[in-house]
Amino acid sequence: MEKQIRVVALVGSLRRESYTRRVVNALKDLAPEGMVIEIAPLGAIPLYNEDDDSDPPLAWRAFRNQVHSGDAVLFATPEYNRSIPGVLKNAIDVGSRPGGASVWSGKPAAVLSVSPGSLGGFGANHHIRQCLTFLDMPVMQQPEAYLARVASVIDAGGRITSSETVEFLRRFVTAFEKWIRRFEKDGYKESTAARAVSIQSK
Ligand code: FNR
Repeated sequence: MEKQIRVVALVGSLRRESYTRRVVNALKDLAPEGMVIEIAPLGAIPLYNEDDDSDPPLAWRAFRNQVHSGDAVLFATPEYNRSIPGVLKNAIDVGSRPGGASVWSGKPAAVLSVSPGSLGGFGANHHIRQCLTFLDMPVMQQPEAYLARVASVIDAGGRITSSETVEFLRRFVTAFEKWIRRFEKDGYKESTAARAVSIQSK
């Protein structure tokens, strides 16, 4: 039997009624059997400050450990001013330091942008991809996921009301599982495991 995959999801909205979080919660139910998705809490991660690298806040350590111990990362975000919300960028920055001990390196990733507007958060989606290139994360390229007009396909209870959207999200998460398994075989995880030892001993 295949090992269960643990995906850590970063949701770029702190809003209580966030559409993006509702979509990620719906994805949990659409994920294949061999995959679990957990949302990392981002709201209490202090702003990144290089001065604190020598004695990192507990919340930084907890976040880094959560990402490190996962098998893959899902970046799910709204678009703010044609880019990514600060809360998400802060989490990316915190996870990337100290230099040489980034928790992102080698982790398979996927990007999902969500918007009530018609462009589906295209700008945010591609700004994340720019960071992930530098962070050396193998990012699933297809299917791309720009979920537009989200308010018309999800209800207040988080149920996706459009069968087309349900099918798309199922295809997306199924492709993501296949993508992650490719890297499992390549031993990407061994290299990140070695890095974790150095993170924890700091
Ligand atoms: C937005 N919104 C937005 N939408 C979009 O499609 N492109 C954009 O550039 C922006 N810019 C933007 C900036 C700021 C500061 C806010 C607060 C909002 C609207 C945004 O998509 C909408 O509020 C979503 O509902 C936010 O996602 P959640 O919180 O529902 O997940």
